[in-house]
Amino acid sequence: MIVSMVVAHGPRGEIGLDNKLLWHLSEDLKNFKKITTGKMIVMGRKTFESIGKPLPNRANVVITRDQNFRPDGVIVINDPMMAFDLALEAESDLEDSDFEMMVIGGGEIFNFFMPYTQRIYLSEVQYQGPADTFFPPIDNKEWEIVKSEDFGDFTFKILERV
Ligand SMILES: NC(=O)c1ccc[n+]([C@@H]2O[C@H](COP(=O)([O-])OP(=O)(O)OC[C@H]3O[C@@H](n4cnc5c(N)ncnc54)[C@H](OP(=O)(O)O)[C@@H]3O)[C@@H](O)[C@H]2O)c1
Repeated sequence: MIVSMVVAHGPRGEIGLDNKLLWHLSEDLKNFKKITTGKMIVMGRKTFESIGKPLPNRANVVITRDQNFRPDGVIVINDPMMAFDLALEAESDLEDSDFEMMVIGGGEIFNFFMPYTQRIYLSEVQYQGPADTFFPPIDNKEWEIVKSEDFGDFTFKILERV
């Protein structure tokens, strides 16, 4: 099992403002759907509320400290470490030794899972403007770029931990 992150960030690591995304990039959303469909996606309660509904064809796992938070169509956990138990269960049920747990944000949840993450699907977006939520700094010495594709408004990269 590996832990991967999927993120779109600006030049300073900007990912959000007022619990919303900073841009609307249809190519990036298509990419996000392709990368995450059929997978287990793990997100913070704020990101879930910002999306507003479970994303279809994915196991949606939402992290909150609120014991009474029980929206339909998602698995709620109160401790982020429980995501690993869920992923290991799914890995064994699916008999999939390449099982990828997809962490999709936001800032608090990216911070928590960064030390456990082996792969980052990263869209680097041309963005000049305000933000209140950021992706943790990426230390270039610890990561190798294994793919890079230019989409004009953004560059899509895959980083693997070396
Ligand atoms: N650009 C991108 O790729 C991208 C991706 C995702 C999100 N975003 C943006 O990021 C922003 C949201 O990020 P955020 O950092 O504010 O929030 P977040 O990480 O989505 O969620 C934070 C919440 O997660 C729960 N949580 C965090 N640590 C926990 C722990 N140790 N145990 C239990 N629960 C825990 C808490 O929920 P409770 O308060 O309910 O206890 C906390 O308030 C939005 O602007 C969103 O649009 C951007």
